[in-house]
Amino acid sequence: MSDQADVMVREGQPILLDRLEDQPQDPLIALIALANNDPRPGKIDVGVGVFRDSAGNTPILKCVKAAEQILQETQKTKAYIGSQGDAEFVELVYPIVFGAGAGASGRIVGLQTPGGCGALRLGAELIARANPGARILAGEPTWPNHAPLIASSGVEMVPYAYYDKATATLHFDRMMEAFGKAEAGDLVLLHGCCHNPTGADLSLDQWREVADVVAARGLIPFVDLAYQGFGDGLEADAAGTRLVVDAAEQALVAQSCDKNFSCYRDRLGTLFVKGSTSRSAEVAFNNLLGLARTMWSMPPDHPAAVARIILSDPELRALWESEVDAMGGRIREIRGRLAAADLRLAYIGGQKGMFSMLPLTPQQVLELREEQGIYMAGSGRFNVVGLADAAVERFAALVVEKLDG
Ligand SMILES: Cc1ncc(COP(=O)(O)O)c(C=O)c1O
Repeated sequence: MSDQADVMVREGQPILLDRLEDQPQDPLIALIALANNDPRPGKIDVGVGVFRDSAGNTPILKCVKAAEQILQETQKTKAYIGSQGDAEFVELVYPIVFGAGAGASGRIVGLQTPGGCGALRLGAELIARANPGARILAGEPTWPNHAPLIASSGVEMVPYAYYDKATATLHFDRMMEAFGKAEAGDLVLLHGCCHNPTGADLSLDQWREVADVVAARGLIPFVDLAYQGFGDGLEADAAGTRLVVDAAEQALVAQSCDKNFSCYRDRLGTLFVKGSTSRSAEVAFNNLLGLARTMWSMPPDHPAAVARIILSDPELRALWESEVDAMGGRIREIRGRLAAADLRLAYIGGQKGMFSMLPLTPQQVLELREEQGIYMAGSGRFNVVGLADAAVERFAALVVEKLDG
């Protein structure tokens, strides 16, 4: 309860808003503010969760600027579009996620969502509606926002061991053991690529093993695909998702375009659901429409219209693909430089996407912040492209010095 002196009381009871508990700020959001307010010129913000170019900027993609201009000149109405969002955009994203050859079996339905967060939350609501006792196995660690987004819908989250920060290795055997004990109908939360916070992705062979256990035990994958294109390229980054979705009787994929279109604040994503039959997929779709209506009614049109223009125009699409490649290329380049800087950072070279974890204690993370103006999450997670070109080797040296104690 907030400061008692401020609490308004009627008939011995606090009035509505005065019953609320104060809430801590999201630690990653708080970190951005701390970094912004640090006046030191050499400060390094690797806490932030957005792509940055070699100069430290998060640019608007050229293809997005061009499409926005086309949209501005051609859009004729802003009338309501419906809870499914921009259906043509969703159709254009479908082969990017599931492959150009993915046939229209009718078993996979999709709709536009406000970002990947919207897709995760909507998926969780669908799961909870279908099975109020549903459980989802979630890797440890996983993106900290998974718990509030999924568990707040009432889906029970059951942790499985995924990654060992001290040795920078996957707990693949323990993960498979957990999946092997899961019950038919249990969900498994998987990062499609570029695992956040660890950068430790499954190899294709490991994905095959996961697909086998999913099929054998009747598990339902819930894939979070937020960084397609930031690992090994748009196609390669979807390979694991395609394997598990193909193997599964039913599946959900929460997809985000916020990173690979660099349109973070515009909020662009999709949720795809695979049903056992085209009829069950259709019923799921109708439920999704109803659930979306109760949460955000309709997703924001602008980013979907922009992405639709890009993806349906061969030239703009080629430009988008090259811009995604360039972002992925910078990520791989910085990873290579960090890996080359010191043997203890070598593992970073083999990891994928924007994030990796350093084997630092929370105390060491705090010391780096106070002594050097280096901002990263308390877990040791850092964004490799939070490093401007000129800061890479200095950052590596300061981290290694701290690891040496
Ligand atoms: C693993 C993961 N999933 C989903 C999201 C959601 O992205 P957004 O809602 O910004 O599209 C993020 C964003 O940071 C993420 O890291």
